[in-house]
Amino acid sequence: MMESPKDKYIREHTTPLSEAFDWIERQTHLRTNFPQMLAGPVQGQFLKMLVEISGARDVLEIGCFTGYSAACLALGLPEGGHVDSLEIDDELEDTIREGWERAGVSDSITLHIGDALDTLARFASEDRRFDFVYIDANKREYSDYYEAVMPLLRRGGFIVADDVMMGGKVYGPKPATDKQTLGLARFNDVVASDPRVEVVLMPVGEGISLIRKK
Ligand SMILES: C[S@@+](CC[C@H](N)C(=O)[O-])C[C@H]1O[C@@H](n2cnc3c(N)ncnc32)[C@H](O)[C@@H]1O
Repeated sequence: MMESPKDKYIREHTTPLSEAFDWIERQTHLRTNFPQMLAGPVQGQFLKMLVEISGARDVLEIGCFTGYSAACLALGLPEGGHVDSLEIDDELEDTIREGWERAGVSDSITLHIGDALDTLARFASEDRRFDFVYIDANKREYSDYYEAVMPLLRRGGFIVADDVMMGGKVYGPKPATDKQTLGLARFNDVVASDPRVEVVLMPVGEGISLIRKK
């Protein structure tokens, strides 16, 4: 897809990531069918800063794809911090690992191949806890990820959920009928009415919700 003048301007006025991230982006275009799923340099820098600002040490990502956003999250970690990244597609593993090696973040990320809901159930049985969770996987399942993640999130911890507006489809003007939009609309409603959290839905990209557990 062609970059719009607005997106070009935003990118040119955002601190760039290293050359390793350009490599991951190129490989994603060469090796995958949906390269537009990748976070990109602006959102990547934003995620890195959010981890830095929050001071999170234990970070969880749901939806690794080719590893771009996981590497950005890892760059924001303090010394000794860690990212666990979940991905269902095992064919992505070689690309993911090579990109992380090039970005110098291999030692601070663990990749878990498998269905995220199974991995989250295992984390619950192991009493794992996280300070920061990035949700960016199957839009039909966002509410399921949310409910599975809430018990694992420390008080004061953050959930960042990507693509929550689906190009405006969640708010009309036509009522949505596709399962992805309906899944996101349900997620947005659940979060907005959940007394356990505060949320701000930001018009960044396709919509990012920043959720804080009280
Ligand atoms: C939008 S992409 C993630 C993009 C990535 N976070 C980035 O910004 O570079 C969504 C990913 O979630 C994965 N996914 C979908 N359903 C999943 C599930 N149930 N468990 C784990 N991963 C899943 C897909 O295979 C895909 O790679």
